[in-house]
Amino acid sequence: MTNKVTFFRNQIDEKLSEVMKGSQPETLFEPPRYVISLGGKRLRPILTLMAVDLFGKEVETAVNAALGIEIFHNFSLLHDDLMDNADVRRGSATVHKKWNANTAILSGDAMVIEAYKYVAKVPEKYLAKVLELFSDTAMDICIGQQYDMDFEQRCDVTEAEYIEMILNKTAVLTGCSLKMGAILADADERDAEALYQFGLNLGLAFQLKDDLLDVYGDPKCFGKKIGGDIISNKKTYLLIKALKNSDPVQRKELDRWLTAEHFDKEEKVEAVKKIYDELKLKVISENLIEKYYLASLDCLSSVNVPDDRKKELIELSENLMYRDR
Ligand code: IPE
Ligand code: IPE
Ligand code: MG
Ligand code: MG
Ligand code: MG
Repeated sequence: MTNKVTFFRNQIDEKLSEVMKGSQPETLFEPPRYVISLGGKRLRPILTLMAVDLFGKEVETAVNAALGIEIFHNFSLLHDDLMDNADVRRGSATVHKKWNANTAILSGDAMVIEAYKYVAKVPEKYLAKVLELFSDTAMDICIGQQYDMDFEQRCDVTEAEYIEMILNKTAVLTGCSLKMGAILADADERDAEALYQFGLNLGLAFQLKDDLLDVYGDPKCFGKKIGGDIISNKKTYLLIKALKNSDPVQRKELDRWLTAEHFDKEEKVEAVKKIYDELKLKVISENLIEKYYLASLDCLSSVNVPDDRKKELIELSENLMYRDR
């Protein structure tokens, strides 16, 4: 990591440790503080601050907005884990497991409100624009999350539908993080839009990589349970491709696992993974990740600032492609 990324990360972490501190009742505010304290990459707020810095402006005006975005992201994880029935996040028990489902719901709601309070701290002249971007993004994420759930019940999800779904559930937030920084740095409309497109492509690559790690990641660093997507029939790129490229024998086996109601989880993960391996889906998926990564760089190159200012964003993006968590 570059010095700048480390510096921004530390700044964000320090301020996040103050979020909802001392608020009562503990039963409402401890879970959000717990999930935030477990860390994570802090990618989105770092992107916001790096966007401001890209245009040579002081990041100070964007820190609260960046915090709001990270709080919102953490809210989305809290509800996502409940929806996905996931027991582990960032190497620790998820909120609905450590407490219960009602706690996850209401603590998540409180986090959305807190996120808005932070974002609304931007200087008045940016407020309307920033809130519109943030609200549109938040709604898109709900839409993406609903499609993600709906797709669990379908076996005819197309690649295009999958891309549209991850664009909404994941990519709009990386796009928003960068565009928020651009707005707060008084960048011109064209540059703000180019940076948004950079973020969308980066987000698509990011979610594809997340889906890949869900199958091929190392349980010691991933921080989430490996195979969760397979267990819940998530229509990831891997599964969509497997359904499309499988021969009749593989297809029959896939259909059997997709419709099985009672099964051994480990056994299902192993069996589906074996088909992914046979179809060489890891490489196929990596090629698509590369495609979106390269598209993101194209968008970044069209932003009208000197190339040497872009180096750190490029390095950060590249690191994301090779990440193991
Ligand atoms: C997880 O996001 C949810 C996805 C969009 C894949 P991250 O992978 O950024 O999670 P943390 O914040 O680093 O834990
Ligand atoms: C989550 O996608 C996207 C959001 C949280 C909005 P995933 O369900 O793949 O995220 P992880 O893998 O649980 O982090
Ligand atoms: Mg999930
Ligand atoms: Mg999910
Ligand atoms: Mg995932």
